[in-house]
Amino acid sequence: MDADSIRGRMLVEESREAVVVIDDADCVVLASRRARQAIDGIREGEPLPIDLLTGECGVIPHVVPYEVDSRPERLVYLSREGDLAAYEELRSGFTAAVSHELRTPLARLLTLLETATLPGEDVSALVDRAQREIEQITELIDEVLFLSELESGGRVVALGATVARPVLEEALQELEERAARAGVELRLECAPRVALGIRPRMLRVVARNLAENAIRYAGPGATFWLAAEASAVGSVTLIGRDDGIGVEESELPRLFERFFRADRARASRGTGLGLAIVKHIVTQAGGAVEAHGARGRGLEVRCEFPGPT
Ligand SMILES: Nc1ncnc2c1ncn2[C@@H]1O[C@H](COP(=O)(O)OP(=O)(O)OP(=O)(O)O)[C@@H](O)[C@H]1O
Ligand SMILES: [Mg+2]
Repeated sequence: MDADSIRGRMLVEESREAVVVIDDADCVVLASRRARQAIDGIREGEPLPIDLLTGECGVIPHVVPYEVDSRPERLVYLSREGDLAAYEELRSGFTAAVSHELRTPLARLLTLLETATLPGEDVSALVDRAQREIEQITELIDEVLFLSELESGGRVVALGATVARPVLEEALQELEERAARAGVELRLECAPRVALGIRPRMLRVVARNLAENAIRYAGPGATFWLAAEASAVGSVTLIGRDDGIGVEESELPRLFERFFRADRARASRGTGLGLAIVKHIVTQAGGAVEAHGARGRGLEVRCEFPGPT
């Protein structure tokens, strides 16, 4: 491929818009990642679903015809009007939310430093607290970076199969002490051979986030179950369930949104990114997430994965 072809391919593939190149038989020659992710039925080498071209599905395509080696081709922009504007809004909203979340621990850090300069203060205790604030800032930055890498496809989520039990066992063991302090019991229910089509590291992130949430929110006396169950058709469901305080039913659909935190008044650290990360990992591995439960009846997060290939 010459330099121009490579550039052309990159321009289409990495476009922020849903855009495809089709040949004179309406077959998809090339499609942007966004088009493949956002619109069903777009595959290179296969015909573009006809309703996308006719505008029947509510998207009026913008079509740019041209010729390559005297063969006609068309560049078809499939984004809905306002899609890009919505995307930009989401982006700027995200930036604003990150800045806001950073400002709080930074403000506390500044106060701690100012206090430390006053005579008679317990400097070493203040330094300890300052360290914890910095840890929280670092955690937030790590989560934001991790999420953006996931979104740009920079991290391979699904690769091979992972036998779930040892990974889940380790994730729970690491949290055992914190769970005991919070009065939450952790339990694992997973047959030894159940495998998931996801990398071990990613499975650990999912398991950890679900367990951490139960430790943080379920309340003392609650039990958290982490289970992986294989179905007869080969799919595997990873379930994190607790019998703690739960969330309002109306809030269930919003739990996977970035920065969403139910009942903000509850004093706890946390940025509202954990379940957004869980959702990204699971969907990138071809699966889907759901939350069930109600206030006072615990929370159940179900991550359904297609069977390992
Ligand atoms: N097991 C649970 N029981 C009750 N509420 C929960 C539970 N898990 C999550 N939530 C609610 O869902 C919100 C979003 O959870 P999520 O994991 O996305 O963010 P977070 O825990 O607040 O922060 P982070 O995980 O980024 O440190 C939480 O703030 C909490 O209100
Ligand atoms: Mg969390």
